[in-house]
Amino acid sequence: MYLFGESLGNINNLSRSASRRIFREGVLIKCVQCGHTYDPDPFMVLCPRCRGLLEVVMPSKTSFSMEIARMRRFSVWRYRELLPIDDGVTPVTLNEGGTPLIPLMRCRSGTERVVDVYVKFEGSNPTGSFKDRGMTVGVTIARNIGVEGVIVASTGNTAASAAAYAARAGLRCVVVLPKGGVAKGKIAQALLHGAEIREVEGAFDDALDDVFTEVVVNGGRKLYPLNSYNPWRLEGQKTIAFEIVDELGFVPDIVIVPVGNAGNISAIWKGFKELYSYGLIDKLPRMVGVQAAGAAPLALTWEQGADRLHAVENPQTIASAIRIGKPVNWLKALRAVKESGGRFITVSDEEILVAMKMLAALEGIGVEPASAASLAGYRKLVDSNLIDGGEVVVLIATGHALKDPDTIVSKVAARALQLG
Ligand code: F0G
Repeated sequence: MYLFGESLGNINNLSRSASRRIFREGVLIKCVQCGHTYDPDPFMVLCPRCRGLLEVVMPSKTSFSMEIARMRRFSVWRYRELLPIDDGVTPVTLNEGGTPLIPLMRCRSGTERVVDVYVKFEGSNPTGSFKDRGMTVGVTIARNIGVEGVIVASTGNTAASAAAYAARAGLRCVVVLPKGGVAKGKIAQALLHGAEIREVEGAFDDALDDVFTEVVVNGGRKLYPLNSYNPWRLEGQKTIAFEIVDELGFVPDIVIVPVGNAGNISAIWKGFKELYSYGLIDKLPRMVGVQAAGAAPLALTWEQGADRLHAVENPQTIASAIRIGKPVNWLKALRAVKESGGRFITVSDEEILVAMKMLAALEGIGVEPASAASLAGYRKLVDSNLIDGGEVVVLIATGHALKDPDTIVSKVAARALQLG
């Protein structure tokens, strides 16, 4: 495994029958590197054979029907049969998901070529980011496996979300943050929900190494790791794909996603692929991953056509949520984008700030800088003629404006609109 020292495979011995009670019948986990499959085990976070990342394999058949699902609340658990958690397990939930899909009215550059652009506004989740979709699943598992609490490294949103869901579950929450690298709103949330905060020198990547050390030392039994290498947490995030199809009634041509640790783009693609494999949709979208130019390991890897990650030491961008140089999920994300016929692109901090102002001042949609990368990326694709006439595009706006008030006040609020 590229990033971490020691394998965490099978670090605990939750009995098979206990695992079966938590997970849906027929669910397996599979190594994305060596392809080996295993019975579901919540504590197996890397492949015990090769240390590769794992992904959840859903049963080949499902009883899920969109018509029946639509009678339920519009939220992550509407798609329950498509999630790996057994129906008998009560979720730890704040009614996350069910976020608005908002058509852009005033800032569609290249409108003559593109018919519909929508923003999936993940800022309207309970803690203000898409992370809640993963945490409802991850913390539900944590509550059922006898751990004391959960632990995450974070650029902020994962911390805020983990803190809230752990509070709801009555679990401890430890968050490891890059010192000085987390926006104020997110720290405030983590503190408010009662998380124990540890700060480390360096970037997110160093914080994540710290979590691994903690988990290796204590075996994961005390604090359950819920970063996005945890394949179960990512299962919740695939519901973004389900909701897009549910609400549009069809599959968009392109989905544009800001990429940091690269779990979300992988999860969304997995969601579309599962709908396709169950015969619930008949085409797949192209996935476009957007990275900030100063923190673009995947875009660099993509440009070079490499099959090893081009890591970035000391990543730099105003979009602190995606200031990540060694994305754990790089292999999953690279495969997702390649398989979908999409691409990775970079945008500058200036392009991010312009897009952020446009979304807010022209559309009424307030997002944090990382989220605006999707609109900035869309504008770049249009300018480069990489979007065809008549295509439907969905931009994932990952987090709420209130997450990062300092950047708004110092860099965006008074900015004049540049629409060119
Ligand atoms: N947008 C926002 C607002 C985020 O907080 C993140 C990730 C991303 C995009 C990128 O998602 O990592 O799945 O590619 N934030 C993580 C955190 C790293 O700790 O909150 P990704």
